[in-house]
Amino acid sequence: MNFAKGMSRRSVLTAGAVAGASVFVPTRFAIGNTAKVKVGFLLPYSGTYAALGEAITNGFKMALAEQGGKLGGREIQFIAVDDESNPAKGPENTNKLVTGENVDFVVGPVHSGVALGMVKVVRESGTITIIANAGAGAATGPLCAPNVFRTSFTNWQDAYPMGKVAVDRGLKNVVTMTWKYAAGEEAVGGFEANLIKSGGKVVKQILVPFPQEEFQAHLTEIASLKPDGVFVFFAGSGALKFVKDYAAAGLKSIPLMGSGFLTDGVLKDQGAAAEGVLTTLHYADALDTVENRSFRAAYKRAFAKEADVYAVQGYDSAQLLMDGMSAVKGDTGAKDALIAAMEKTVIKSPRGTFTLSKAHNPVQDIYLRQVKNGQEVVLGVAEKALADPATGCKL
Ligand code: BEZ
Repeated sequence: MNFAKGMSRRSVLTAGAVAGASVFVPTRFAIGNTAKVKVGFLLPYSGTYAALGEAITNGFKMALAEQGGKLGGREIQFIAVDDESNPAKGPENTNKLVTGENVDFVVGPVHSGVALGMVKVVRESGTITIIANAGAGAATGPLCAPNVFRTSFTNWQDAYPMGKVAVDRGLKNVVTMTWKYAAGEEAVGGFEANLIKSGGKVVKQILVPFPQEEFQAHLTEIASLKPDGVFVFFAGSGALKFVKDYAAAGLKSIPLMGSGFLTDGVLKDQGAAAEGVLTTLHYADALDTVENRSFRAAYKRAFAKEADVYAVQGYDSAQLLMDGMSAVKGDTGAKDALIAAMEKTVIKSPRGTFTLSKAHNPVQDIYLRQVKNGQEVVLGVAEKALADPATGCKL
C-alpha cells in the first residue's frame, strides 16, 4: 500500500475537470447519500517537509481503511495539492481545493506560514478544515473559527515544558536557535518564557532563514559562547542535518534540547549523532499502550516503514472526521451538527486519549523523551493535559 504516491497535481486536476463536466446537479439530499465526499489534502509532497506530508497522508488513509474506507457511509474522493511549504502560495493553493475542487473538507498543512494563508481562505468559505500539523498559534488564536480544528499541537505547547526541564537539570544558560518563521519563533518563545520563569537565562537567540540548512558558522559561535545547553526547533530534513552537524562540530558535550520534531521521523538516519538529545513532544514511538502498539504494527505492515508523530496526526485527523461524519450520517450539509459532534470528540489516539479545547486545539500530555542507545526513551510526562492558552480566540 502506498497511499501518498500517485497523488500528483495532474491527477487532481483531471479529477476536477471530469467532475466539472457533469450535467447532473444533485440535490443536497442526493449529495448526502450518493456523491463521494471530497477530502482535499493541502500538504507538502516536495522539499524539506515532503516526508511529513507523506506520513500524514498515509496515517489518514490508514485510519479510514481500518473502518471500511468511508465517511458517514459515503465513498471518498481524495484530492491532493502540493503546498511546497510555501507561505506565499498558501491562499492560492487552498483556493485550488476550496473553489477549484469544491472540497467538503481540507486537511493540512505542515508549515505554519502556509496555515495562516489557508485559514484566511477557509474562514471565508466556511469549509471544515483540520490542521494536521502546522502549530501556528494564531490559527486557533486570533484567527480561530468554528470550522477550523487542529489535531496536532501548537508550537508553544510542545516547547514550553522544556524550559523548566532545562533549569531542573541545571541547564540555566541556554542558546536557542531556529528557522526564522512562526513555528520556530513560537517554539523558541515558549521554551524561553518557561526557562526565564524557572530561573534560567537566554545567552543568545540565533535565527536562520527557512529552509536554510547551512549551520556551520552558528555552531562555531555556539562553541565559543559555551552555554550550559542549546534548545532548537528544526524538523524534517533540517532536523536530520542539524543534529548531525552539531555532533560533527564536536558540541556533544553541550546538551542539545528541542521540540520532539528534532528527532521524530529522522532518528534512524541521525544515528549516533542523536544520542542523548532531550526533547518534549505530544507523542513518542515507545508509548506502551494497546492503541500505539497496534497503530505502529499496522502502519509498518502497510507502508514497510516506522510510523512517526506526523503519521499519528494524520490518523487522528481521520478519526475526528469519521466521528463527525458518522454523527450526521454523512450529511455534509448539516454543518452545525457536524461541527458540534467534532467538538465533543474524545480521540483514542496512539499518543494517548485527548479532547479538544474551546479553541479546537488538542488538550494533551507532553512527554519528555531522550535518545538512548538509538531509541527514543520516554522519561515521563513533562506536562499533563496541557492546553494552548489560545489567546485572542473568541469562540
Ligand atoms: C510548523 O511549521 O508549524 C511545523 C513544521 C514542522 C514540524 C512542526 C511544526
